[in-house]
Amino acid sequence: MLKTNKLFFGGDYNPEQWSKDVWKQDIQLMQKANVNLVSLGIFSWAKLEISDGDYQFEWLDEVMDLLHASGISVDLANATASPPAWLSSKHPEILPVNFDGIRLEFGGRQAYCAASTVYKQKAAQLTEKLAERYAKHPAVVMWHVNNEYGCHAPYCYCDASRDAFIGWLKNKYTSIEELNTSWGTDFWSQRYYNWEEIPAPKRTPDGTHPNPGAQIDYRRFTSDITLDLFKTERDIIKKYDKVNPVTTNFMSMKFTHAMDYFAWAKEVDFVSTDHYLAQHDIENHIDLAQMADLTRGFANGKQWLLMEHSSSAVNWQPRNYAKTPGQEKRNAMSFVARGSQGAMYFQWRQSQAGSERFHSAMVPHAGEDTRVYREIMELGALLNEHPDLANYETARADVAMVYDYEQMWAMMQDNLPTEDVSYPETVAAWYRALYKEGISVDFVSADVDLTTLKGYKLVLMPMVHMLSDPQEQVFTNYATNGGNLVVGYFSNISDRTLRVKLGGYGGALVKDVIGVYVEEFYPFREATVELSNGYQAKLWGELSRLNGAELVAEFKTGQALGSVAIAKRKLGSSTAWYQGTELTDDSQRAFFRGIAADLGIQATGLESTEVVKRGPYQIEIDHKANTVKVTKS
Ligand code: GLA
Repeated sequence: MLKTNKLFFGGDYNPEQWSKDVWKQDIQLMQKANVNLVSLGIFSWAKLEISDGDYQFEWLDEVMDLLHASGISVDLANATASPPAWLSSKHPEILPVNFDGIRLEFGGRQAYCAASTVYKQKAAQLTEKLAERYAKHPAVVMWHVNNEYGCHAPYCYCDASRDAFIGWLKNKYTSIEELNTSWGTDFWSQRYYNWEEIPAPKRTPDGTHPNPGAQIDYRRFTSDITLDLFKTERDIIKKYDKVNPVTTNFMSMKFTHAMDYFAWAKEVDFVSTDHYLAQHDIENHIDLAQMADLTRGFANGKQWLLMEHSSSAVNWQPRNYAKTPGQEKRNAMSFVARGSQGAMYFQWRQSQAGSERFHSAMVPHAGEDTRVYREIMELGALLNEHPDLANYETARADVAMVYDYEQMWAMMQDNLPTEDVSYPETVAAWYRALYKEGISVDFVSADVDLTTLKGYKLVLMPMVHMLSDPQEQVFTNYATNGGNLVVGYFSNISDRTLRVKLGGYGGALVKDVIGVYVEEFYPFREATVELSNGYQAKLWGELSRLNGAELVAEFKTGQALGSVAIAKRKLGSSTAWYQGTELTDDSQRAFFRGIAADLGIQATGLESTEVVKRGPYQIEIDHKANTVKVTKS
């Protein structure tokens, strides 16, 4: 657990890029800005082990001592995120192989395969050396394993990965016959008679794609073996340091999907995450709030920390916009309000050379006499004023939304009814509607239990495509025992092997419990379609009819004319809704506004103003007026 009586403030510190004179200036500027934590050594492998087994720790000793003497704590990395050139030139087999079978080159970063025994061995040795040397160093307050696992080459298709995949499959399936059934290999003559015949699901002939079951199992396998790598590194650190917590930074972002963070969160001592804004997103303050709420969901009661965000522009999107005045505080405080134990950045000082030289930092190229550094100082002062915020949790919401990596992976298949619908976008659209209505949300995974669900007045299931029978039963029990539920389209279509549930789409939950019989999907040709209650829909319609539910709205135009767009059913004291389409933003808001009013769910903010409660604190962030107010009752 993260023990702290203050909010953390600081960023990735890469002193190896600078001379010792600059280190001294760094310390002064850190102190001036109230920086109390830096993440050190994340990309330092090449400087810490200059050739096989030749470790050089003196420079790091000096930096650690300097930071400690200056009252700045360290989140110490085990430096395994980017193996050095000497390692991949001696052992090219550690380099990852992509979907097309091409081995990727050294020269970027994170060029390793998680199944490589050489990489694992060398990473373990380095971790051992670092942990042994620094476990008792007074500057260390937490450990940072690797960096954003799965960011650059999560899926490796090399022979070692394939062998590991087969091992994983043998563990998952009791027989090859079970695998054949699960993957539906009698389609397209794909039956396997021996485990060794199974390939890594690389590119197949044009117009075809790897078996859907193989694809989703490869995603599960990748998350699992990468997590195993983390656990190996974590356990080495824990041999030497039994006090300080160990974390690895997740990527709570719309555009990264390779690791199942609900599973990973169980293995870290506290959750830490990175968040970068999508530059094209004009309502990116809502994305911030969503990703902060999602991270709180991963943490599930544990503490968590925003480990990285940017002080201004990034450099890796097509167009990289600078933050606007005041945004520093608004963005960081949005995370803090929603439960983060502070606000950390990539990176402390803007690099002079290398790929990220145009990525913003807390200290820009132009130095301290800058808008960015001034705003950093303001934020540091604000966090410093309210250290005991760290002792409180963000207030629980009335509404829970299901978010789940397996659903994401199911929706990333290349064989679906339309490429126009997107799981992250549908979840974001539902979240946006709630945010604009001022309704707070907690996120839960599809593996949630009934007791947890019962703590919420309303549970939302946007595009929860795959549910096992026991999972479906949990949501059914919730809905039939006093819980209010909204099930979105294309939900409960398959079991977890991706085999379709027959007899009406949406399975028993949609057909019998809510009472809508769905027989065919009608992705729209039209941009929007009118509904009978005045709402507008887009992207998706269905041929469907009532099967016990009460009609809320039907499609008034388009191919789905006359079918059920929205229906509801009273189930004792509660109500379950089925939303068989994607609503436009205004209509989605109107739909949720009506439900919230029916259920007595309180709106806590308005449009652009976030009002979030954390213990006795109330944090109000007005993204239009550009103000942040922190009050304590
Ligand atoms: C990631 C990495 C950092 C840096 C930033 C840039 O989050 O962890 O090292 O590259 O992206 O936005």
